[in-house]
Order: sequence, then C-alpha cells, then structure tokens
Amino acid sequence: MHSLQCVLQVQRSLMWGPMASVSWLSLRMCVAHSSLSSTTCPNPERQEVGARKDFSSRLATGPTLQHFLRSASAPQEKLSSEVEDPPPYLTMDELLGRQRKVYLETYGCQMNVNDTEIAWSILQKSGYLRTSNLQEADVILLVTCSIREKAEQTIWNRLHQLKALKTRRLRSRVPLRIGILGCMAERLKEEILNREKMVDVLAGPDAYRDLPRLLAVAESGQQAANVLLSLDETYADVIPVQTSPSATSAFVSIMRGCDNMCTYCIVPFTRGRERSRPVASILEEVRKLSDQVLQLIHERDNICKQIHLPAQSGSSRVLEAMRRGYSREAYVELVHRIRESIPGVSLSSDFIAGFCGETEEDHIQTVSLLREVQYNMGFLFAYSMRQKTRAYHRLKDDVPEEVKLRRLEELITVFREEATKANQTSVGCTQLVLVEGLSKRSATDLCGRNDGNLKVIFPDAEMEDVNNPGLRVRAQPGDYVLVQITSASSQTLKGYVLCRTTLKDSSAYC
Ligand code: 5AD
Repeated sequence: MHSLQCVLQVQRSLMWGPMASVSWLSLRMCVAHSSLSSTTCPNPERQEVGARKDFSSRLATGPTLQHFLRSASAPQEKLSSEVEDPPPYLTMDELLGRQRKVYLETYGCQMNVNDTEIAWSILQKSGYLRTSNLQEADVILLVTCSIREKAEQTIWNRLHQLKALKTRRLRSRVPLRIGILGCMAERLKEEILNREKMVDVLAGPDAYRDLPRLLAVAESGQQAANVLLSLDETYADVIPVQTSPSATSAFVSIMRGCDNMCTYCIVPFTRGRERSRPVASILEEVRKLSDQVLQLIHERDNICKQIHLPAQSGSSRVLEAMRRGYSREAYVELVHRIRESIPGVSLSSDFIAGFCGETEEDHIQTVSLLREVQYNMGFLFAYSMRQKTRAYHRLKDDVPEEVKLRRLEELITVFREEATKANQTSVGCTQLVLVEGLSKRSATDLCGRNDGNLKVIFPDAEMEDVNNPGLRVRAQPGDYVLVQITSASSQTLKGYVLCRTTLKDSSAYC
C-alpha cells in the first residue's frame, strides 16, 4: 500500500486519534506545508500483534474535548517543559524513555547542532539515556540536512549502514528504532518511510516536542511521523543540552525558519516561517551559559580569576540616562553572584564622573558603590561629550567642568583606598605569577601578573627551578614563578621571587 494512502486510511479510521489534535494544530497555525502531517502508520513487516491490538483499542477511545482544548495552548506560554500527559492511546509508562539509550547523530548546519541539543533536552526529560556508542543504542536519531543534494545522499548512505545494524540487532535484543529528524524528514515526508521501511520515526524541525510520543508509538511496531510546521514554535522553554562535553563553543538560537525565499534555497520549505524567540528566554539561556563560564573560571588554574564589570555609575537614575540596561541593584546582585561562584575573584570597573544631569546625590551613590564592591582595579574618567551620540543630541552636558573634575578626584581617592585595602590581603601570601618582562620603572626588577591580573613587581634574581633541583635560573617572559608578597598599593603588589614553577605544580597558592 502506498504510504500516503495508508496514512489517509489511518486518519479516517481513527477519527479522534492523533490526527484530531493535529488537524487542530494545522488550523491554529494556518500552515499547509505538509500533506502528511502527524500520524502513525502500521508497517506490516514489523507488526507486533499483541501490542498493536492493545494500541488500536486505546486509539478508538480517542481524546476528549478537554484534551483537544489543552493542545491549543501556545508553546511559548508553557512555563516548564515537564513531561506531557500521555495521549489517550498511550500510558504514561509507554510515553517515558524507561532508560532506553539514544544515539544522536548530527548532519549539517549550526541550527542542526542546536536542534540536536533541543531534541536531547526533551528526551532526557522523558527518561531516555544518552549513549555515544552506536552498538549499545536502543534508538538512533539522525538530525538531517537537505540543503544540497549531496547532504541528503550522505543520509541515505548512512541509513543503509544502519539497516544492516538493525537487522542484526532484531535477532538478539529489543528492536532497534531509527528516526529521521529535521530538514530531510520535512522535505521528503512519507517518501522516507516508503523507501526505507526500517525508519520508525520521522520528526520535522517543529515536531521535537512530539518525540516521546512518536518513539512510544514506534515501540509498538508502528511507523510514526510528525512533520507539521509551525508559525510559533521556538522551543523557548526548552533549554538545550550541550551535546559534547568537550565543546568549546555553544550556540544560542534566537530565531527559527526563514522568509527570504532565495530562489535556490530549500530552507523556507524545510524550516518554515521565520519567527523569533522571546527575548526573555534568550536572556535566560545566556545567563545559564554565563554561569557555566563563571564555573570554568573557578575550576581552571589556567584561566585568570579576574572580571571587568564596567559599572559607569552607582546611581540607577544615571544608569537609566546612560541607557545601560541595568540598575544599581541588578549590578550589585551580579557582583555577589560572581563572588559566590569564584571566591577570591578580582573585579575591575570603569566609571564616568559628571554625566549629563548627574546630581551630588547621584555622585554619592557612585562613591558608595566603589566602597561596597571594593574593586581591585579601576578606570575612572570625567565625562566628555562626543558628537553623534544620543547624549549629544538629547541630553545636556550640564555638570560644570570643575565639578566633574572634583567628583573624579573623589572617586579616584575612594577607589584607591578600597583597592589598597583589598590588595593588602595578599601581603604575606605566596602567589603564582606569570612573568611578562622587565619592570617599566626599574631595570633590576621584573614585572608579572598574579591570578587576579594584578601587576606584581619583584627583583630579577636567580632562583631554583622546582622541576630541576639544583639548577639556578633567571625568570623569562612566559615563565611561572612563585612570589612572596611583601607590600601592596592600589595598583601593584611587590615581593621577592622564590622559585620557577609550572601551573600544574603550583595550584593552591593564595
Ligand atoms: N566620556 C567619558 N568617558 C567615556 N567612556 C566612554 N565614553 C566616554 C565619554 N564620552 C569610558 C567608559 C567606558 C570606557 C572605555 O571609557 O567608562 O567603559
């Protein structure tokens, strides 16, 4: 039977089966990209009779009107991506992954990398496990690309290999399930199910939330597909799980789909209409990523524990006039979060004295922020108006020059007092210093930076090398040395060198 006929037949006979809610989705989204939208299709080659009978009887009971209405809520409105209630023809147990192992393979662009992370996030919440070993997988999902013919050919070839794997597996263990996700599923729809009977699941780029259901249906021996495109699906509430633990970069997807319709391009047809993700959900994801960065700075000895956090002002009123996008309170909260994540972190900042409309009270707020945060380094400036800026066009540079300079002097004094106090806590400590070269002020001194990126000055003297006992060496640029700190100012630390060392040998110094 031609699979489309097969689909239509299933659709007619199921009445309020899965197609019912799908028709509703089609209406709500007013998208008619697909002839095969979301359905299940019995595959005579792989029928597991008992399971199917049970499945069919539950299908007949169909969803209630309540269930029908529930499907109407827009994805973005959902606050959490908890596991969905099962449709009436599946039990909750069947909907869950029950520790089955998923192997995900990604082809194509960065959007597909992101799609893989979204699909995995959804499956992980449903109780699936992830494996990077094809041999132990219960489910293999290919996140596919249709951009050029060769991209699709690669997938067809891969499917032939997996077919062999599946045939071998059938005899020994629970059947292996294979799914095609993403653009190729969207473009070819039932053609894939027709050509490759061993494909169990098809999910288009907007159907990943449906994966637990599609896989549950596949478990009962049916082919399952959802290639509906959506006008509003952005997976806003699904926080992608980074797929490779050794990944050095992460993508934050801000939009999906494309409306450009370049004459050569398939993307508008495979990924659907262009839609942007709500700003709040992008910010939340970026915040999570920045937390990961803080964690890394904390954990890794080869990353300097210093963060530049330009405040510009301590007054929320001035910050608003500057259009900085944060209040004093939000800034202070961030400082606390950073200090909790990276104990002993060194903080630096930029400040502008005498911005348009700055009052004496605003200035006092900036002084109090300098005292509250106690920066290790600071860069302080008197405001100078620049042409073309918004302040130039819209605001008045109304703080007299002498007032700006007096306020700047006050800020510098307070900054120095606090930085001296902060830096003096290093006196008496042995610190790891990365040597930069000769000191600018004295030819007999060397200069380097400690883990807080603060300048450390010490006499250029012979010392031991911890890895070559007995060998006397002089520090060279790029060397790590241990320095005993003897004094501190607001700008620099001073001390004497103890020995040459390496990053590895020197953790746990203050
Ligand atoms: N006047 C004074 N300081 C300025 N900065 C930027 N623009 C101006 C200006 N018009 C300062 C800010 C910024 C740093 C690089 O220079 O503090 O963070």
